[in-house]
Amino acid sequence: MKTDHTFPGAVASQDRRGFLLRFGLGAALFAVPGALAEELIRTPRQTEGPFYPDHLPLDTDNDLLIVNDGITPAVGEITHLNGRILDAKGDPIRNALVEIWQVDNHGVYLHTKDTHAARDKHFQGFGRFLTGSTGEYYFRTIKPPLYPGRTRHIHYAVKMKGREKWTTQCYIKGEPQNDKDGIYRGIKDPKARESVTVDFAPIRSSRIGELAARFDIVLGLTPEA
Ligand SMILES: [Fe+2]
Repeated sequence: MKTDHTFPGAVASQDRRGFLLRFGLGAALFAVPGALAEELIRTPRQTEGPFYPDHLPLDTDNDLLIVNDGITPAVGEITHLNGRILDAKGDPIRNALVEIWQVDNHGVYLHTKDTHAARDKHFQGFGRFLTGSTGEYYFRTIKPPLYPGRTRHIHYAVKMKGREKWTTQCYIKGEPQNDKDGIYRGIKDPKARESVTVDFAPIRSSRIGELAARFDIVLGLTPEA
């Protein structure tokens, strides 16, 4: 993870931990394991789509704004994206490998078949995070722009030992294109649709207009003890 201060958007690792404490563990405090079993909406699965990277970036960490030791950050609206991976009873799932992939600020994926515009070479396009005992994950990325044919979205894959890869997509609350998006509309249950539609909210203390988004994923499984 690159954590220096060589550009205005850099977030020192201390700050990141602080961010996680403020935005992550706060929510974890009132998530009593198993207590919400009745109310939890299972996150709907969504197609992986054609743009899972066909070659992985040189760097696959959870900071998509900096590739390896690069000093030039990716362009875009910086977004701190976090959440938890939960089982059907609301208990956190540890050792889940969370992967995200999305377009850069020009609307281009890290994929050799996506050539409709020039790619931002400073954007990692893909990242990974392995959950610990709280089930939390965290990525620093950009708010995805629109690209032809789709509303704004971030792809997710969750990989666990002995389980089939699970994929979905995360959407942005208030985005007018959502209602015109066939894949989004494919989620028929309004509550399930709501569960993948999250706020990308301005962080008040940020002088550079950073956003925060929280997307919890509830998997319909109870891991074996
Ligand atoms: Fe996509």
